[in-house]
Amino acid sequence: MLQATFEQRFSWVRRQMPRVQNALQNLPDLTGVRLACSMHLDLKMLPLVEGLLNKGAALFVTTCNPTTVRNEVVDAMKQWGAQAEAWQGMSTTEYQAAIRNALEWEPTHLCEMGADFTYALAQSDNPETLSHVRASLEATGSGINRLCELTVPYPIFNWDDLPVKEGLHNRHMVGLTTWQAFLAQTLLSLHEKRVLVIGYGSVGRGVAASARAFGGTVMVTERDPARLAEARYDGWWVMPWEEALKEADVIVTVTGAEHVIAQDHFPLLKSGVFLLNSGHRANEIEVSALRTYPSERLLPQVEAFQVEEKTVYLFAGGSMANLTAGEGDSINAFDTTLAVMISGIGHIVGEGSEQEAGVYLLPKQVWEAAIQ
Ligand SMILES: NC(=O)c1ccc[n+]([C@@H]2O[C@H](COP(=O)([O-])OP(=O)(O)OC[C@H]3O[C@@H](n4cnc5c(N)ncnc54)[C@H](O)[C@@H]3O)[C@@H](O)[C@H]2O)c1
Repeated sequence: MLQATFEQRFSWVRRQMPRVQNALQNLPDLTGVRLACSMHLDLKMLPLVEGLLNKGAALFVTTCNPTTVRNEVVDAMKQWGAQAEAWQGMSTTEYQAAIRNALEWEPTHLCEMGADFTYALAQSDNPETLSHVRASLEATGSGINRLCELTVPYPIFNWDDLPVKEGLHNRHMVGLTTWQAFLAQTLLSLHEKRVLVIGYGSVGRGVAASARAFGGTVMVTERDPARLAEARYDGWWVMPWEEALKEADVIVTVTGAEHVIAQDHFPLLKSGVFLLNSGHRANEIEVSALRTYPSERLLPQVEAFQVEEKTVYLFAGGSMANLTAGEGDSINAFDTTLAVMISGIGHIVGEGSEQEAGVYLLPKQVWEAAIQ
């Protein structure tokens, strides 16, 4: 089968992102802006980086998740003049060093997915680093939850909770692309499988709906009783947590919380169960505990663990399945999402930076035109 070259794929991505090209054109001149970005580094981010550099911004790019980095993408960014420090599989220490290096580079603005920069700044011993940062943009629910624990030192604009991000990307794309990645990598389908979705936020809703579309029988668990009731009204099979764990053939976590499936739960699992995660953090499944059992890699994205007499399959190492084992959003859907993010960058380098420190929802008038 013929494979597309990197150049062909990038040129295709650029061609299929007209909203992104419009949003980039509408940005002001960015000379003097030093933007540090912590984000997934896949092909779909290249039009953004290319456009920001063309507008005169200086960029420091690192990842928000080492497992989703595509090295060829980072190489292209470097060639164009961005400072980039990220590579596939970098260790936690290297990842944290990249976050520190980005901050020592003295950014004036931040573009984050997971709030790693702001979290590190808030805990740093040298608050003078903060004085350079005028405003930030945050893209994820996990990042927004982390920010709630902090006294934030500059205005931060949340665009995760915008209806256009939550309702399109979170609700529709993550589920679709999680299962696309699972089916493509395992060569299985979800027919005759009981799929347990843990967490019923907008991502969980989409993961549940797509699992059914791909033939699965779906069960939902959720710790928030109101959302659990909603799952029941949506027609999902809602079961007590322990029973659901025993029944499931495929379990997917989409909570943003740690160790949702922990060592204590392993004895409850069915032999042959698949564990996967599409939440932001790689530790929603307690992978470190799973790694204490004998294991074997059967496919590039499938490891088998022998937990006493049972076999437990871990997909994509417990990292975000759709981005680690797949390519994430379709480019037409991401065109809208990325255009909103670009308008957010326009806001933080302009009047957004005049606001007092705090977390704000990105105003509608900033992004509305970008999605027309
Ligand atoms: N894979 C991707 O491409 C992608 C894209 C967008 C968001 N995300 C991530 O997906 C996760 C979910 O996003 P969301 O917008 O739906 O978040 P959300 O906070 O709206 O929903 C998460 C739900 O999980 C529930 N929950 C938390 N801990 C639980 C537990 N132990 N057991 C059962 N339920 C639990 C919460 O009550 C909540 O209802 C976040 O980490 C987010 O960053 C991933």
